[in-house]
Amino acid sequence: TRIHVTDASGASHVVEAPNGESLMSALLNAGIDGILADCGGGCACATCHCYIEGDGMDRVGEANSLENLMLDSAAAERRDNSRLSCQIDVTEALEGLKVTVAENA
Ligand code: FES
Repeated sequence: TRIHVTDASGASHVVEAPNGESLMSALLNAGIDGILADCGGGCACATCHCYIEGDGMDRVGEANSLENLMLDSAAAERRDNSRLSCQIDVTEALEGLKVTVAENA
């Protein structure tokens, strides 16, 4: 599934993300700047914080209560379109999704 990514330094990338993986692993494996994922996907560090652009929020599902708590303590400003990328599963439904990586350090 193709994901359009703007990294933490503002550069654009197209990442071919395997379905069934988390968005965080796909971004990390692609070496995207700004994805630290210190906790390895456990929803415990908020260093995989991304902003989901356009109509994407309707397609990625809702954050659970733990993710909501973590987003409140994220390093970068929490916005209406903030999500932790480790809590988003890649599926075909995300084809063409646009995400911007938050400043995570
Ligand atoms: Fe730690 Fe997502 S990788 S919260």
